[in-house]
Amino acid sequence: MRSSNLPPNNPVSHFIKAQQEKDLLRFIVCGSVDDGKSSMIGRLLYDSKQIFDDQLASLANDSLQHGTQGEAIDFALLTDGLQAEREQGITIDVAYRFFATDKRAFIVADAPGHEQYTRNMVTGASTAEMAVVLIDARKGVLTQTRRHSLLVDLLGIKNIIVAINKIDLIDYSQEVFDGISQQYLEFAKSLHFESIHFVPICALTGENLTLSSTNTPWYAGPRLIEIAETVAVGTQDLSGAFRMSVQSVSRPNSDFRGYMGTIASGEISVGDQIRVNPSGMETRVKGFADFDGPRHSASAGESVCLLLEDEVDISRGDLLSSVVDPALVSDHVEVHLVWLAEEAMIPQRSYLLKIGSKEVRAHIDRLKYRIDINSNEHVSAVTLGLNDIGICNISTVTPIGLDPYDLNRSTGAFVLIDRITNRTVGAGMIRHSLRRSENVQWQELTVGREQRELMNEQKGFVVWLTGLSGSGKSTIANALEVMLHQRKIRTFVLDGDNVRHGLNADLGFTETDRAENIRRVAEVAKLFVDAGMVTIVSFISPFEAERSLAKEIIGESDFFEVFVDAPMVVVEKRDTKGLYAKARAGLLPNFTGVDSPYEIPTNPNLRVESSVSSVVECIDQIVAELVRNSFL
Ligand code: ADX
Repeated sequence: MRSSNLPPNNPVSHFIKAQQEKDLLRFIVCGSVDDGKSSMIGRLLYDSKQIFDDQLASLANDSLQHGTQGEAIDFALLTDGLQAEREQGITIDVAYRFFATDKRAFIVADAPGHEQYTRNMVTGASTAEMAVVLIDARKGVLTQTRRHSLLVDLLGIKNIIVAINKIDLIDYSQEVFDGISQQYLEFAKSLHFESIHFVPICALTGENLTLSSTNTPWYAGPRLIEIAETVAVGTQDLSGAFRMSVQSVSRPNSDFRGYMGTIASGEISVGDQIRVNPSGMETRVKGFADFDGPRHSASAGESVCLLLEDEVDISRGDLLSSVVDPALVSDHVEVHLVWLAEEAMIPQRSYLLKIGSKEVRAHIDRLKYRIDINSNEHVSAVTLGLNDIGICNISTVTPIGLDPYDLNRSTGAFVLIDRITNRTVGAGMIRHSLRRSENVQWQELTVGREQRELMNEQKGFVVWLTGLSGSGKSTIANALEVMLHQRKIRTFVLDGDNVRHGLNADLGFTETDRAENIRRVAEVAKLFVDAGMVTIVSFISPFEAERSLAKEIIGESDFFEVFVDAPMVVVEKRDTKGLYAKARAGLLPNFTGVDSPYEIPTNPNLRVESSVSSVVECIDQIVAELVRNSFL
């Protein structure tokens, strides 16, 4: 969050502007629901006198009504802003709070401690330079504490304060404090923190937080606020190499072309040479288009509109970088992945990878291992569930500009988005690029699709039949091929059962295997289309995600999706292969329609009802639609 990205009348801009002379520390507070996080943040705000008087009056009122702290002010009420949170007694979203002392200004991300809110925790920690890990002195180091610390470590935060709270409730016991500190140090040995401070606090009274305590004579260290005031503020983004992801290209007329974005790291001045990734083209900065008048340079955090010397081809999502220290270009990377969705990760499924302003299709080729958050050990796994963290290899369909996360927290971080629901399902940090794109190159051939189509006197395309087992896909595929064959049209049928005997013999029926099954057959179908064939694909293809991937691989204009629809009762009664009976008897796991879902196509090119129409009628409908849409 930077002042220059915010409208000037935004209270945040106001705050930052007012504090501009002091330096600014962003930190995150992580803790479990009852650890006292809200009380702690409330206390920090209160003691820094950043609460307005009317807010105080209302707080006093609320506290009396709530009655959780007797007559005293309940500081948790200050930060539990949302009504829903108050009712549930939990904090449910990342909230940013602002306060200042004489020495420094602070932005604190209040990250929820609830298990399912890892997503918000990652959001809150991604820009933080310090983390306060809150521990309830009565409970010690919990699974949550480990998970949050591991995430904080992955997110590259180097300075940690372990605040051991509710020290009053354990009679200010040094023994308990030392025990917890020891336990935490043991766990953190394998992490990469540069400084860890342990502080015994009472968030409610402010002891050792903002105020000194006479109850802990054995603790000679600084108050928590003093540590926060002196911890070194990272300048990675300012001192780093120049990076800017192009958010948009402004071209109001043919004479003007400006490239807009927020500088992720480093500085850029007029005359500097820059590289465009992934294309590798180079040019120089001619100037800045700025409303505030001419300027000569700009640095990390500023939103700018760059003017360049040459007319190079740059589009949204391209990464501009310094030529001295350029970004990497890769389509294959090893990453830390934090899974954020209820639904398990499906390796081989095509997700949307968003890095900076770039969105690109990507899939996880390999989950190398999952990290056990308790022991930090590597555990072999085939998938990641909610809140799991793993190391994966990810491939993107086209190369992208990027950096290892260690070197750049902005251009090294990405999210994975489910292409159907549009929800963020994973957050990742790039470890390094895997070398592949440099060694495998696209080979240009002289005889192409056009020449083959000319010689064949026909156009290649795919008829994709999807539907339950027993819905009649294979029968329709076969009859359609016979009919086209009679019309002297060259065809080929790719049938699920047949392809599974050869090319896909290594695949079973888990979601992951089915995703790979469809990816492969879509790639094969694309080759057949290139060869000029009318290709009939007959696969259950039960998931919308893979059908839409197939459409993308093959190309929308060469793809005709037919939903072969028949009610469950009908296909189950037909049971041509006896598989439904087997599945019902529990002898065939993951059977579509029984214990594995079939997602009804939302927008097929055609739906035929095999329980209502005869095979001939179905084919006639297909051919009529193909003709109407100029495929035939
Ligand atoms: S898909 O779901 O991955 O698209 P595909 O069309 O290749 O499936 O294979 C489906 C065929 O495999 C079915 O027609 C059936 O004969 C056979 N089969 C064996 N086990 C299963 C199962 N668990 N679920 C569905 N089909 C199965």
